[in-house]
Amino acid sequence: MNAGKLTGRVAIVTGAGSGLGEECARVLAIHGAAVAVADIDGPAAERVAQAIRTGGGDALALQADVASESDIQALVQAVMGRYGRIDILHNNAAALDTAQRHADRDVVNVDIAAWDRAMDVNARGAMLCCKHVVPHMLTGGGGSIIFATSGFGALGDITLTSYAASKAALMALARSVAAQYGKQGIRSNAIMIGLALTEKSAAHMPAELKQILLDQHLTPELGRPRQIADVVAFLASDESSFITGAVLPVDGGWTSHSPAMAPMREFFARMGSNKL
Ligand SMILES: NC(=O)c1ccc[n+]([C@@H]2O[C@H](COP(=O)([O-])OP(=O)(O)OC[C@H]3O[C@@H](n4cnc5c(N)ncnc54)[C@H](O)[C@@H]3O)[C@@H](O)[C@H]2O)c1
Repeated sequence: MNAGKLTGRVAIVTGAGSGLGEECARVLAIHGAAVAVADIDGPAAERVAQAIRTGGGDALALQADVASESDIQALVQAVMGRYGRIDILHNNAAALDTAQRHADRDVVNVDIAAWDRAMDVNARGAMLCCKHVVPHMLTGGGGSIIFATSGFGALGDITLTSYAASKAALMALARSVAAQYGKQGIRSNAIMIGLALTEKSAAHMPAELKQILLDQHLTPELGRPRQIADVVAFLASDESSFITGAVLPVDGGWTSHSPAMAPMREFFARMGSNKL
């Protein structure tokens, strides 16, 4: 390990106790970063950090609720105490458990507690992390901040109203941070993720739903966590030194095409021709 493009850098990944955050933490460590694995689920964070250390990397597990300012202050203090600098912040944490998803419906039926939780965790959480990390990046001469957002933040859909609004907020936040601190060496970008199957989504999503989503991706397969983590590592590194204020689709083409594409493809297949 420790001879890669992120050697000597210190990263915080929020929501890194499972799913895409876990993979991002692992891949940043593979590239040489020391990684603070932060999650509201402390034992999950410890499991991921331990796996990184077992693989020869450097990781520190920290229990933190990103929606809590005092937790974020303690998190940043712990990372500064251990490593003395912060170069990379990946704002990945989101409230995505089943109860939250079921309560986060269309506007008329949305549970207000679900709206508040989505805003608190997904949007306020990322803002709080920036608020308390950016001063240390400025002292250290710069850094890279990455926000995990979603096609839901850019496109209308029939459900997940609060999630969508919170993810749209992150696109604005990424650009605000880029504009405010770019001259002082901080880059800030959002990645707009399509469907990258985590262990959880692979196990729980019905096959029919996966197929509907796959039909709207332009790639042969749905995304894999490693494909997301590779882009996060790229944005964290100097390889992307001229990219800032961007919202980068990492979505297998999900947001790039006409909504009529998949039914049209079926129509043409039935007709035996693609000529109108
Ligand atoms: N997986 C996908 O296909 C997909 C698609 C689009 C966007 N995204 C985005 O990528 C990110 C990761 O998604 P995932 O599928 O791995 O989700 P996940 O639910 O598997 O993981 C989310 C992690 O965040 C943690 N978390 C939840 N609330 C928290 C809080 N208040 N404080 C700290 N940690 C908290 C959870 O404990 C969990 O470990 C999210 O921001 C999500 O919106 C994922």
